[in-house]
Amino acid sequence: MFDAVIIGAGACGLMCAVQAGYLGKKVIILEKNEEPGAKILISGGGRCNYTNLFSTSANFISQNEHFCKSAFSQWTVEDTISFFETYGISGKEKTLGQLFPEGNKAKDIVEVFTQLCEQLGQQILMQSEVKTIDKDADGSFTIQYEQRGKLKTVRSATVVIASGGLPIQKLGATDFGLKVAKKFGLNIINTAPALVPLTVTGKDADWFASLSGNSIFCRVSNDRISFEENILFTHWGLSGPAILQISSYWRPGESIELNLLPKQNILELIEQERKQNGKKTLLNLLSQLYTRKIADALAKYLPTEKNLSSLNKNDLQLIEQQIHYFKVKPAGDKGYDRAEVMRGGVDTNELSSKTLESKKVKGLYFGGECVDVTGWLGGYNFQWAWASGYVIANSL
Ligand code: FDA
Repeated sequence: MFDAVIIGAGACGLMCAVQAGYLGKKVIILEKNEEPGAKILISGGGRCNYTNLFSTSANFISQNEHFCKSAFSQWTVEDTISFFETYGISGKEKTLGQLFPEGNKAKDIVEVFTQLCEQLGQQILMQSEVKTIDKDADGSFTIQYEQRGKLKTVRSATVVIASGGLPIQKLGATDFGLKVAKKFGLNIINTAPALVPLTVTGKDADWFASLSGNSIFCRVSNDRISFEENILFTHWGLSGPAILQISSYWRPGESIELNLLPKQNILELIEQERKQNGKKTLLNLLSQLYTRKIADALAKYLPTEKNLSSLNKNDLQLIEQQIHYFKVKPAGDKGYDRAEVMRGGVDTNELSSKTLESKKVKGLYFGGECVDVTGWLGGYNFQWAWASGYVIANSL
């Protein structure tokens, strides 16, 4: 009999298996894919942004913003860094605290886990898709899984659901964690794609499409939060880091606001330029601030052909409005196929914040993305996956 059966060889399940192994506990991981760590392998463009130096609970979305604090105090960013350093992977900060393996690739991160599992005698059964989990009269669980067409069962007093969220089905994503939670009577917080590009349709769609491939450093805001990073225009709307970040806070029907010049004031710039060269056109000034393509496109909204000296009060108001308060009403998002994470999931009220065990069902644990704890873009989601795997392992 194993100390636990872990469902899913992703970031959370692998960390849980290794940490349990350090404590002398035997676990088995059941994974439906042919290889472990599918999402780790493709993350960060194949380089895996595995944590963030500035990670705090404020970088996570949850109905209970305090829930993740306990896990993050048990397993810190420093713990992540030193864990990987121990196995030869040192971190390099790319931007905004985002840590990537220096000189290494995402596959090296996965190899740390597969090698440790082997050394510690933790089994990973690949091509093993868990179908059902039942609680038996004696309180233990019977887990039924399909391995290469054959149905098999395994029993354990403890089950760890580390089966991830809904994004990217072709990488193995399933709603299994949500189904198990529902089956055992646990509440689910509504799920939706997060860290996902936003689409624009209607009268402005052609304008956005015409700028496809261009990016601008922006402040993107709604009434809850704002992010300063690049946005990217695409054929169907908006992407880029600032858009992915705000998408996690966006709800259908709402508008977002783009400040296209967050570090400067356009009216002050015009005033200064007027003094030196009033004959300069607004288009020329905008071309100094943006790519020519974007400056040209702004002609749809602004009197770009006018000289700076001839801009009147109404023109200036319009310019300020469009440059600093550019409103966009996204039509929707690009869905789970293009999302980096799922928002929502197993209600944190159902789980102990110290151990991540279900309060209702003894021996049933949930970790990683299937829990209602969603990180920002930038290594935060892996930090949650590692921390939750660690916390569960300690409690097995
Ligand atoms: P994860 O999805 O990693 O693992 C779950 C596993 O369970 C999968 O292997 C799946 O096959 C398996 N499974 C599901 N159902 C099963 C069943 N019924 N039976 C058996 N196995 C089953 N985050 C970050 O911090 N930095 C980054 O750079 C990136 N980059 C990134 C890029 C892209 C394109 C995506 C889609 C996502 C990211 N992320 C990220 C997010 C990050 O990948 C994600 O938050 C973690 O992988 C979640 O870890 P989990 O272990 O919870 O699930």
